[in-house]
Amino acid sequence: MLASSLRWGISATRPVYRQALGARAPVIRRGYVAPPSKPAMAKIVNADRTKGRVADDEAKSDMHPVSREEIFSHAMEGQKGERPASRPIYLDAQSTTPTDPRVLDAMLPYYINQFGNPHSRTHAYGWETESAAEQGRKHIADLIHADPKEVIFTSGATESNNMSLKGVARFYKSKKNHIITTQTEHKCVLDSCRALQEEGFEVTYLPVQSNGQVNLDDLKAALRPTTAIVSVMTVNNEIGVIQPIKEIGHLLKTYGADLAKELGRGTPKPFFHTDAAQALGKIPIDVNEAGIDLMSMSSHKLYGPKGIGACFVRRRPRVRLEAIISGGGQERGLRSGTLATPLVVGFGEAARLAKEEMAYDHAHISALAKRLRDNIMSRVEMVLLNGDPEGYPGCTNLTFQYIEGESLLMALKDICLSSGSACTSASLEPSYVLRALGLDDANAHSSLRFGIGRFTTVEEIDFVCDKIVAVVNRLRELSPLWEMVQDGIDLKTIEWSG
Ligand SMILES: Cc1ncc(COP(=O)(O)O)c(C=O)c1O
Repeated sequence: MLASSLRWGISATRPVYRQALGARAPVIRRGYVAPPSKPAMAKIVNADRTKGRVADDEAKSDMHPVSREEIFSHAMEGQKGERPASRPIYLDAQSTTPTDPRVLDAMLPYYINQFGNPHSRTHAYGWETESAAEQGRKHIADLIHADPKEVIFTSGATESNNMSLKGVARFYKSKKNHIITTQTEHKCVLDSCRALQEEGFEVTYLPVQSNGQVNLDDLKAALRPTTAIVSVMTVNNEIGVIQPIKEIGHLLKTYGADLAKELGRGTPKPFFHTDAAQALGKIPIDVNEAGIDLMSMSSHKLYGPKGIGACFVRRRPRVRLEAIISGGGQERGLRSGTLATPLVVGFGEAARLAKEEMAYDHAHISALAKRLRDNIMSRVEMVLLNGDPEGYPGCTNLTFQYIEGESLLMALKDICLSSGSACTSASLEPSYVLRALGLDDANAHSSLRFGIGRFTTVEEIDFVCDKIVAVVNRLRELSPLWEMVQDGIDLKTIEWSG
């Protein structure tokens, strides 16, 4: 049976949900309701629907607009008229993750009763939301071993990346005009760098090795006395490679600092920014141990709500930035605007859970990734694993040679996968990340990213493997290229006309 705790999953911390599922829904370790059998589930949902309507009529006379059961059965339905089990399997965890129901539980009071503006200093409504927001900030700081004062809330990693790169570059522009990043960064880092080039800054885009990691010698050679900031992501969103963050931090503190002294005593070393959108809550991060000065984070990548993120900005030694948003001076003057308390609380709870459950999640995800790789690669020939085998396992990128990735995706309608990052998947260009690893256009076009998350199940992985094997074999049977390869023809030697 294909049923994930996600799609059946509801929060057990809400008694009304538990009641609605009844005794057949045991609570599992994480506070979720384990999936009952499919027919049993169908019966429960149907019964609830009928009950919901009756209860709804009763509720109307009581001035309650919708019964709780009705809300529940809607939530369980997913899309209109569709049972949850008929929804596609979600294997796109780098694009986004579902909000953990425990996170949503923590957020709800701040949408209803505790709605005060956390910056209101004159009354209890403000004090209680301020205290909740500070608690959330502390959970995030704890996850990365920072001081809560170093956590600045933003709308997400895109904003944090913009804020870090543009903010630092513009603040130090009278002395420094050089930025270093890699060719495989997220679009929002690359585009921020392009924007800074328009403003007169010089940017070095470092190449990566075939496993996706930057070469530290290349980085060392690229450093200049005028390098203001170096931005290297912690975990890549397309191939899962983990960059040597500690080594980079150390290089900037030593060799980078020595170079900076050439501009006079007191000139800061090149600041180290890392985009940790795909790393936060997935692998341990210690900003002090790694010598990180600025770090971008996004809540929805770690089972928190969308629309909120944060930027770690080191206080000692202090990193100075020109704010890109002006206003009331909130968030140490670096990001004006009223904090969205429910989102901050949700992000904080997601961070708390991630810290508590990181080892459990990692073991679960690693086991599923191994199962997926072993199963597919032992049954299908000419499949390549892209990136570093020691990278983050929840992001597995495979090339199915001699098959067009888009056709593969089309044939896999019941599985949500991506052939690249969500922001570039609308274009038919081959992934620039895979190209940077040295893949040719054909192989880059034949690649799929499998994003495995906290709620992915063994049954889902097995279903996906069987489906992939069947579809790849079918598409290859139809492919003249595959026939030529089978006949021993080296496609690179062919001169195509037209
Ligand atoms: C590595 C990386 N950086 C930045 C982002 C942008 O995050 P957000 O869209 O939440 O701002 C993403 C999202 O895909 C990402 O994967």
